[in-house]
Amino acid sequence: MRVSVIGCGYLGAVHAACMAELGHDVVGLDVDEAKIEKLARGIAPFHEAGLPQLLEKHVGSGRLRFTTDAREIADAQIHFIGVGTPQRQGHLGADMRYVDSAIETIIEHAVTTDGPVLVSGKSTVPVGTAQRLAGRLDGSGKDLILAWNPEFLREGYAVKDTLHPDRIVYGLPEDRERGETAKAMLDECYATPLAEGTPLVVSNYPTAELVKVAANSFLATKISFINAMAELCDATGGDVTRLAEAIGYDDRIGPKFLQAGIGFGGGCLPKDIRAFMARAGELGVDQALTFLREVDTINLRRRDLAVELAENALKDRLVGKKIAVLGITFKPDTDDLRDSPALDIATRLWARGAELAVVDPAAGPELRERRPDLTVPETVDEAVAGADLVMILTPWKEFVELDPAVLIGKVGTPNIIDGRNVLDPKRWRDAGWNYYGMGRSESI
Ligand code: UGA
Repeated sequence: MRVSVIGCGYLGAVHAACMAELGHDVVGLDVDEAKIEKLARGIAPFHEAGLPQLLEKHVGSGRLRFTTDAREIADAQIHFIGVGTPQRQGHLGADMRYVDSAIETIIEHAVTTDGPVLVSGKSTVPVGTAQRLAGRLDGSGKDLILAWNPEFLREGYAVKDTLHPDRIVYGLPEDRERGETAKAMLDECYATPLAEGTPLVVSNYPTAELVKVAANSFLATKISFINAMAELCDATGGDVTRLAEAIGYDDRIGPKFLQAGIGFGGGCLPKDIRAFMARAGELGVDQALTFLREVDTINLRRRDLAVELAENALKDRLVGKKIAVLGITFKPDTDDLRDSPALDIATRLWARGAELAVVDPAAGPELRERRPDLTVPETVDEAVAGADLVMILTPWKEFVELDPAVLIGKVGTPNIIDGRNVLDPKRWRDAGWNYYGMGRSESI
């Protein structure tokens, strides 16, 4: 099929490359010239496992093109919308201007003279958006059908999650015939190997939109739940990692997303729960989601607690103290700094007078550009040299595997804050470190 993908960020660029991998003829469109210039040369503009290989293969073969010229999407049979819906400045709600502009671009350029053309929304949007956009398409004078087809990929696993999703959701128009046409086109697009054996949930627009924000809200709630338990563990001498392990054996609860620490960040979970609350308010059902306010509050409190932990470890004297921060992205295996708890904590410690040396396997170059006030060495050894405190804030594998017996010879004072509870406290204490976890007060 001929496919266009509008928006070439984490979602769109990966989706475009994966659609080419499925055998489609794909054009990716974005207004960001620097990003398109890289993609058009087959270079990934961000760190994402597997993406460079797909770009090289398909840009090289000509099956995948990237452009800033909207005229090039004209003959696509399906237009995927993968633009961002960031939090609005000074507001909890989502900024819909990129979605609206993508719709106008499609209306202007899509050629529908050979039969209906599908517009498939993948961006995370406030419930009710699809109905509104469908109305706009219906009034456009072109035969454009809208489907809402949310994306559940995780950064760091985006290629794998797109090619092997754990479920596919179609939100289809109420009109039966148009709904069937949309379904048939998506089925053809996602045909094997992607869709084989993958559960498919077919619904109307609002359900499909809600599935996405409900899933992210559930994940955020799970993380804040375990972080609340971490507070209880700290107050009582418990260990939240053992607690999580024990409750996780109950398969109704499950072991995943129970990692307590400095909390969730990134371009999705925080802004999605806020936009969801804002939308519930508009719909007059704000009480249904007031618990998400608490989820957000618990999450942000983790950052305060990490800063307090650093102050305690340094006996309330931060000025001139050298802190080595290991990991600054919002999670490992990405270079994404959006709403990164690690960056927030580092910034606050810097503002209190500490000298920060930040090392990160992927975000170093961007951080150097954005934050000339921070020292950003290349290696852990440089970062920890003479440090008064080491903080692991993003659990990259290379940090989790550090040898405490070796590292202790490089620091000034052996203080370590394990902001993600990924180290073995006993091993670090036995090697001579003052170990501080988050919700790990148990001394055995
Ligand atoms: C999240 C969802 O997991 C995806 O399913 C969804 O498609 C995506 O948002 C999206 O809406 O596009 P992502 O933002 O890539 O994916 O990150 P997650 O893996 O969900 O992690 C989010 C944050 O939670 C990270 O800061 C991570 O460190 C933190 N986290 C995760 C914890 O603090 N504890 C955990 O147990 C798990």
